[in-house]
Amino acid sequence: MRKTISKDLDSNLVEEKKTLFIIFGGSGDLARRKLYPALFRLFLAGTLNEHFAVIGTSRRSWPDEYYQNIVLDSIAKVNGATQDDRQNFAKHFFYQANDVTDVGHYKVLKHRAREIAQKFQIDGPWLYYLAMAPTLFGTITENLARCEFLENSHPNRLVIEKPFGHDYLSAKTLNEEIQKAFPEKDIYRIDHYLGKEIVQNIVPFRFSNPLIKSIWNSKFISNIQITLAEKVGVEERAGYYEQAGALRDMFQNHISQLMMLSSMEEPVSLEANDFVEQKYRVLASLKPLNQQDLLNNFVRGQYCASKEMPGYREEAGVDPKSNVETFVAGKLELQTPSLKGVPIYFRTGKRLKEKETRIDVVFKAPETGPYLDAKNNVLTIFIDPSSGISLKYNAKSIGDTKILSHFEMQRLYTEEERHQMPEAYQRLFHDVLNGDKTNFVQWEELCASWKLTDQIVNYWHQQPLADSEFYAAGSLGPRSANDLLANDHNYWIYQG
Ligand SMILES: NC(=O)c1ccc[n+]([C@@H]2O[C@H](COP(=O)([O-])OP(=O)(O)OC[C@H]3O[C@@H](n4cnc5c(N)ncnc54)[C@H](OP(=O)(O)O)[C@@H]3O)[C@@H](O)[C@H]2O)c1
Repeated sequence: MRKTISKDLDSNLVEEKKTLFIIFGGSGDLARRKLYPALFRLFLAGTLNEHFAVIGTSRRSWPDEYYQNIVLDSIAKVNGATQDDRQNFAKHFFYQANDVTDVGHYKVLKHRAREIAQKFQIDGPWLYYLAMAPTLFGTITENLARCEFLENSHPNRLVIEKPFGHDYLSAKTLNEEIQKAFPEKDIYRIDHYLGKEIVQNIVPFRFSNPLIKSIWNSKFISNIQITLAEKVGVEERAGYYEQAGALRDMFQNHISQLMMLSSMEEPVSLEANDFVEQKYRVLASLKPLNQQDLLNNFVRGQYCASKEMPGYREEAGVDPKSNVETFVAGKLELQTPSLKGVPIYFRTGKRLKEKETRIDVVFKAPETGPYLDAKNNVLTIFIDPSSGISLKYNAKSIGDTKILSHFEMQRLYTEEERHQMPEAYQRLFHDVLNGDKTNFVQWEELCASWKLTDQIVNYWHQQPLADSEFYAAGSLGPRSANDLLANDHNYWIYQG
């Protein structure tokens, strides 16, 4: 018998969470690479203990033992566990072949789920994780409701992966389908960026330090810049990417989330509803875009071949005449009470110079007084690959001089700290087990981010890519992304 009370992620004492997990897409890549290791870490932490079980399902037929070996393989690289821990964990896993489009299969699945819940004395929630193509989400929730999975005494929670829709209308249709079976309070939409340590730290950092809080407003901030640069190209995802493009793939979800967290007003409490309400208000209050804004404030690009790397149109699975954007940059104007009128710039792209995700908050330089040569203070939140916070400040150059220099105070998480940090999926599972929706995407936010995304995409679709919109693989994107800021007398802080 393992310990029933243990140190939790944040060192609070917690009770074991008695849960039955049903993972749709249990044989898939996401389940193997992310979900099973995350559950194992929760098992090692004691959050999952004796009274939990996982039923993996997909169409292929696997005996339980085979599935348990798959699970053992997927947790092989998790450190800090004994062989007994691994074996004890795997014993909680069961496999049930199930085609989600076949109603008959759900009856078998429900019978099995009941038996397993009884065997492990699970009286807590049943958690349905849809690690599958989103086109099947509606079918699964409808069949779960039809086959009376949701009418039992236990609570039910639904966890779904992105992409949630292709545009506003498809997201709305999907949402309506899902909400026929699950109320919004039981739906957990994952954006794994919200599970990252540093991302979860943006709001505490902004509001728990009176020094920072007092300057995070339009009186002091000149502009905010969000960069999410990828070094990789489209890889094996050409099929999906040809339908999506950079704006849908990165802006609609991750960048929108970073934008909301870095510009939301202080929530009245840390309760999920209060927190999410403030996030949503950022998007809801953005200055509406007119035709002129669409023309002037957004830049798209597509990578073309450089010496060592192929262009997007040469990648396997990509239409040689593809008009899909692999780069976007844009400017939006915040209208929240504290940051009214402050521009927020964003850019993201594939096959850029380096992998780099960060938020640069650029403060105004002095406009009066003797230090007019001082540079802007810049506060950077590094997200990936390094993670932490830095502040660039002016000070006198060392020596017998009055000349100013720019210095940097930096606190990055060490390798050891990063190693000890719970991974995004571990945290997010942990939150679902606690019924905490703070770090999940609510329908209102999704709705607002899709409407904004649609407006830009629809405008672009009217014209094919121009020659000036192509950028060399390995560069920082098209020149027009720099012009976007230069027109406002600003420049990108991150230059690669
Ligand atoms: N992989 C990642 O790192 C990642 C990251 C973020 C989001 N996501 C999202 O997570 C979801 C899953 O991604 P994935 O990479 O794990 O995909 P995947 O490897 O293709 O897995 C898909 C799973 O669905 C099962 N499946 C397909 N059709 C089915 C049906 N009719 N009935 C029952 N099972 C069926 C497949 O097994 P069978 O063929 O045996 O049925 C397989 O287990 C997608 O929405 C993706 O966008 C993935």
